[in-house]
Amino acid sequence: MSSRPPQRRRIRSFVRRPGRLTAAQRRALATLWPRYGLALDDRAALCEYFARPTRRVMEIGFGNGDVIAELAADHPELDYLGIEVHEPGIGRLLLSLEARELDNVRILAGDAVEIVPKLIPPESLAAINIFFPDPWHKKRHHKRRLIQPALVGSLARCLVTNGALHLATDWPDYAEHMVTTLNASALFRPITAAESGSDPIWERRPTKFERRGERLGHPVVDLYYSRTPVQRSAGVAPTR
Ligand SMILES: C[S@@+](CC[C@H](N)C(=O)[O-])C[C@H]1O[C@@H](n2cnc3c(N)ncnc32)[C@H](O)[C@@H]1O
Repeated sequence: MSSRPPQRRRIRSFVRRPGRLTAAQRRALATLWPRYGLALDDRAALCEYFARPTRRVMEIGFGNGDVIAELAADHPELDYLGIEVHEPGIGRLLLSLEARELDNVRILAGDAVEIVPKLIPPESLAAINIFFPDPWHKKRHHKRRLIQPALVGSLARCLVTNGALHLATDWPDYAEHMVTTLNASALFRPITAAESGSDPIWERRPTKFERRGERLGHPVVDLYYSRTPVQRSAGVAPTR
């Protein structure tokens, strides 16, 4: 018998749905992934990507990827980075990037809760978008919600000073949870839509889940937060 202590299963913000891949999505994953995908274990490719001198907007849980593709087409001056676990969604975004001939989008496939702290360099992002994350509306499932203090800390680390964090949800109770979690962090400051101004890093487009919520009469809430000034350690004078 093994003497190793039993491993606690991580609480995840998603359930891997077996969702069937279409033939086109399967082809996209095989042929387009090398062009748009960033392998999690390819340090050289990640370093090269983050060295690009462009402002970068990251979207977590992009679903079918329509929003990221639209924004990337409208703003070729920005780079977009999407993180998603759902393979059919990744396949669909790949097809859309190919059809639009875009080159300013890259994809990381996997759990953002693990990827962000491990692979996204400090102060490397101008903005982070999380639109309509799974609401996990039953109380006993609230712990599965994506927006949690630990992730908020990781997101803050990746943003430049005054960087944008844009959240949207159609579940009032999740909106409250987001506000409570974000307001408890000194790393973010709530701002109004007007304060966010006309910088395209704050832009959002209607999403598939938003449309579904609207059909059910759900109210949509957008929340805007700005990264407070990044504290630099004063450094310790070397002792002789
Ligand atoms: C409710 S859907 C919303 C999709 C899209 N943003 C929209 O509004 O149509 C939430 C998405 O987040 C993804 N997701 C959930 N947890 C995630 C995680 N930890 N890392 C990456 N993606 C995640 C799911 O696979 C799903 O596609």
